[in-house]
Formats: sequence, structure tokens, C-alpha cells
Amino acid sequence: MAIRKIFKEGEDILKKVCRPVTKFDANLGVLLDDMFETMAAADGVGLAGPQVGICRRLAVVDTGDDRLELVNPVIIESDGTQIGPEGCLSVDSSKNCNVLRPYKVTVKAQDRTGKEFTGTYVGLTARCICHELDHLDGILFYTKEYKDAQ
Ligand code: NI
Repeated sequence: MAIRKIFKEGEDILKKVCRPVTKFDANLGVLLDDMFETMAAADGVGLAGPQVGICRRLAVVDTGDDRLELVNPVIIESDGTQIGPEGCLSVDSSKNCNVLRPYKVTVKAQDRTGKEFTGTYVGLTARCICHELDHLDGILFYTKEYKDAQ
């Protein structure tokens, strides 16, 4: 395993819509393992493909409650709301802000072997999944900053 370079805001790849993963080979497993290691070394709870320079639809999440590898993920159901602070390993922490997210999401994805699975997650894991899936569409969290109506 290896720690990969984390791309920072301002790099074009973070604004791109990623393509699906089509090859479920050994390289994909290495990439996902590297992403887990890179995320842990940076003290993050989620990391998406474009953040390590790979414009493909994949992400890893480890919130302590749930450890997930998401290949070609799609949110198929969401419920409730939560407002809470977010940051990103690709964005300076001065841009951390509150974001409105669903409280619960059901995501359908594949694992590194191509096997499909569906899971339902709440709280921080749900927030994290939404944040990482946004990366796959070139969206950074602070563009969705939640501002109180006051
Ligand atoms: Ni992020």
C-alpha cells in the first residue's frame, strides 16, 4: 500500500464529472487500499477518486461506525435532514461550514470485485457518503453551505 498525493482545490480534476469504473482488476484493489491508507494518514473520514487524481466513480469512507468502499455508488433513497459542519482533505479548513444533508441514505454500489450491494446508513456516515458522491460530480461541499435564515 502507498500514500497518494491529495489534490487540492484549484486543480481541474476536482471540478470534473467522473466516469464509471468498468475494470474490476487488481489495480482497482490497490487503488482502494491506497485510498484507505491515504485517508487514514490525513485523519479523514472519506476520500473520493478525484481527490487522488482518479476521475472515476469510487470513494472510501471510514467513520468509525462504518468502513465502506463504494464503486459506482448511487443514492437510491434518502430520508430526514441533518445540519452539521463539514470539511474536506482537498479544501483549506478556513472553508469548513455547515451543510444540510439527509439524515439517512440508502446507497447501491459495487465492491472491488464488482459485486453489487445495498446499504442504509445514518448520521455521520450518511453525511460522508453524500459529501463523497458530490466529489464524483465535481461538487465541493462549501458550495452547499447552509446559512441560517436569521
Ligand atoms: Ni471532500
